[in-house]
Amino acid sequence: MKKSHFTNFIFLSFLFILFTNTLYAKESAKKMIKHKPYANKECASCHVDKKGESGELKEDIPTLCYTCHDNYDNNNFIHGPVGAGGCMLCHDPHESENPKLLVYKTINELCTTCHTEKGEMLATVDNIHPPVKDSCINCHDPHAENNKFQLRGDRTQELCLMCHIEKKERISNSKNKHGAIEMGDKCLNCHDPHATGRPRMLKAETPKDLCLQCHSNEWNREEDGTTLMNMGEHLENNPDHHGPILWGDCAACHNPHGSDNLRMLKQPFPEKATQKFSPDGYICFKCHEPKKIEEKYTTEFTNFRKEEKNLHFIHVKDKSITCKACHDYHGSRNLPHHLREKSSFGSAKFSLHFLEKPTGGSCNPICHQRREYDRENPKVK
Ligand code: HEC
Ligand code: HEC
Ligand code: HEC
Ligand code: HEC
Ligand code: HEC
Ligand code: HEC
Ligand code: HEC
Ligand code: HEC
Ligand code: HEC
Ligand code: HEC
Ligand code: HEC
Repeated sequence: MKKSHFTNFIFLSFLFILFTNTLYAKESAKKMIKHKPYANKECASCHVDKKGESGELKEDIPTLCYTCHDNYDNNNFIHGPVGAGGCMLCHDPHESENPKLLVYKTINELCTTCHTEKGEMLATVDNIHPPVKDSCINCHDPHAENNKFQLRGDRTQELCLMCHIEKKERISNSKNKHGAIEMGDKCLNCHDPHATGRPRMLKAETPKDLCLQCHSNEWNREEDGTTLMNMGEHLENNPDHHGPILWGDCAACHNPHGSDNLRMLKQPFPEKATQKFSPDGYICFKCHEPKKIEEKYTTEFTNFRKEEKNLHFIHVKDKSITCKACHDYHGSRNLPHHLREKSSFGSAKFSLHFLEKPTGGSCNPICHQRREYDRENPKVK
């Protein structure tokens, strides 16, 4: 290599290093966000000497901060470190790469350095409530608030409804409201605000376990003087539970937040033992085939038939008798197909006296004498 080339190379390398260094310096300078009085070189607004060289402060923290910022004294609940004047635990007084002069990159990192159990939750638990994953300060004020736990609204409901507007409408406008929404801890009766590891942050293993915490009692309803049955006891006495209850999902049929339908059902269901049939009138068809009722003749859609003559059609569509007269969709015992042992029709209470046989069955309610059906033998009356 010639000497001139070598010096050129050295010179160019020097320029290159200089250039990249300035770029890097600019880049990192750009990243720092400065506290206004620090940026304006008003060192003396906080330090005893004009140039701030000693680093000695004019006032103790937090009094110093409160010379320019409002204090939090008029809040009922002040966050531990704020009350203790620990502004510097979260903020840098001069500058920071992070917004709001924070000492950590994200809010959740900041909060979980002290609240380690919540850090553990974020790292290990499934189904975290999305606003919790996003940022703790969606709900908690980092400094102070008038609500317990420095929450932005009352913990039991007001806070939730700030974001869940559709629930706000449902709980205030539904015709059939749920007692659980307004009693005790309201929304927190059933949900955890952060996470439980279960879908919907439910506080019990299944919706059913939740429901039975309260529905293993009777409830006297003040508005109409009626009594709500003890469902826990009913299910214990009727151990052949209907499919969705076997899965633990009472919310397959009931809306826990209330609805316009009978008993807060997600879809309509007839109140009485007789009602003119309409396929929209039965929540049952969410899962069962309506042709079971609608087809006058079938060998396919139901076993409740005399050969091809559909007895579901005759009872439910022709005679407007609802499922309730024959089935118990919570649970049954002794009889197959969730048939009721005891039924009622108006004020009359009676037994179905159902008997099953391999190709049909018979029953003897008060509506008629014992009648038999057989899917294969046409001679049976
Ligand atoms: C908003 C108030 C405020 C302003 C403005 C401010 N400082 Fe500080 N400074 C502080 C606080 C608070 C500390 C930390 C004191 C402690 O932790 O004990 C500090 C610490 C220092 C220290 C001690 C070493 C260190 O970094 O911890 C020096 C030196 C210093 N500041 C210089 C300056 C200079 C120079 C300026 C002006 C360019 C300035 N400060 C502007 C609040 C301020
Ligand atoms: C001399 C007045 C003064 C003092 C003392 C002071 N600040 Fe500030 N602070 C300001 C000003 C001015 C702003 C900018 C406000 C704005 O932009 O609206 C600010 C903004 C902030 C911000 C928001 C920064 C951002 O990027 O939005 C934080 C956080 C903050 N200050 C914390 C503190 C803390 C903690 C102390 C005490 C150590 C303190 N300040 C003391 C004047 C002061
Ligand atoms: C537990 C951590 C923590 C402590 C302690 C803390 N802050 Fe903050 N502070 C925050 C967070 C987080 C934000 C950002 C809030 C946001 O983005 O809405 C913030 C924002 C601020 C702001 C900007 C407000 C705004 O609305 O932009 C000021 C000013 C401030 N803090 C002052 C203080 C003072 C003064 C103290 C001590 C009395 C203090 N902080 C103590 C976490 C803290
Ligand atoms: C520097 C440590 C520290 C940081 C950072 C911190 N906290 Fe705290 N937090 C505390 C202390 C200490 C208490 C008071 C505990 C007590 O009273 O039992 C507290 C109390 C709380 C409480 C009330 C708990 C109760 O049982 O009364 C909530 C809610 C809370 N912090 C949320 C947050 C959030 C949200 C953040 C992030 C913005 C945060 N904390 C950041 C130390 C911290
Ligand atoms: C969706 C709103 C919401 C968000 C986001 C949220 N919280 Fe909470 N937090 C609450 C509610 C509501 C309570 C009261 C719980 C109760 O009373 O059972 C609470 C209570 C707390 C408590 C005191 C009781 C306990 O569980 O220990 C701490 C500490 C806390 N939260 C920390 C955090 C931290 C840290 C984050 C971020 C990782 C966070 N929260 C995010 C709503 C929220
Ligand atoms: C800051 C806004 C915010 C607040 C406050 C809030 N949530 Fe949420 N929540 C959301 C968002 C966003 C989602 C995800 C979208 C959705 O499912 O609506 C969500 C989802 C949910 C879910 C469904 C989670 C899943 O597994 O699908 C439940 C249950 C819930 N929130 C309950 C609550 C309760 C109870 C409260 C009050 C303690 C509350 N939320 C407060 C924003 C919020
Ligand atoms: C009686 C228990 C119970 C109460 C009280 C309750 N929920 Fe729920 N919530 C549930 C169940 C169970 C689910 C799952 C529903 C489903 O699968 O249809 C759920 C689901 C949700 C969802 C997810 C979206 C959806 O509808 O499936 C949100 C959001 C929610 N609840 C918010 C709230 C809020 C806000 C409150 C207070 C106003 C509240 N819940 C009160 C039991 C309850
Ligand atoms: C925190 C207690 C509590 C929990 C948990 C609870 N309920 Fe209730 N529920 C009540 C109370 C109280 C009433 C009676 C309120 C009234 O009408 O006076 C009620 C009423 C009902 C009714 C009758 C509503 C009407 O319109 O007549 C049904 C159906 C019901 N709950 C189903 C459920 C289901 C399904 C679950 C589980 C997802 C559940 N409940 C969980 C307390 C609870
Ligand atoms: C397959 C749909 C379905 C499922 C699943 C279901 N229910 Fe029901 N439930 C109904 C229907 C339909 C009614 C109203 C008709 C009636 O009064 O018989 C009702 C009525 C009720 C009533 C009012 C009873 C009364 O006193 O008249 C309660 C309480 C109730 N259900 C609780 C529950 C609970 C708790 C679960 C879960 C263990 C559950 N339901 C699961 C369909 C269902
Ligand atoms: C008059 C009494 C009666 C009424 C009303 C009634 N069922 Fe049935 N249902 C039966 C009998 C009896 C069986 C058993 C048939 C067999 O397997 O022998 C049955 C069987 C069923 C089965 C099992 C599958 C099948 O069809 O064989 C389902 C599902 C069913 N019914 C749903 C309903 C629904 C939904 C309603 C209301 C829309 C209803 N039932 C109304 C008596 C009735
Ligand atoms: C969320 C889905 C779902 C809904 C809604 C539903 N069922 Fe079922 N049903 C099932 C499942 C799954 C089975 C099978 C497991 C079993 O036998 O319980 C079943 C079985 C039955 C059986 C017994 C079938 C047999 O051959 O033994 C009857 C009767 C029945 N349902 C009636 C009803 C009635 C009446 C309604 C409306 C009040 C209804 N179901 C609503 C899911 C549902």
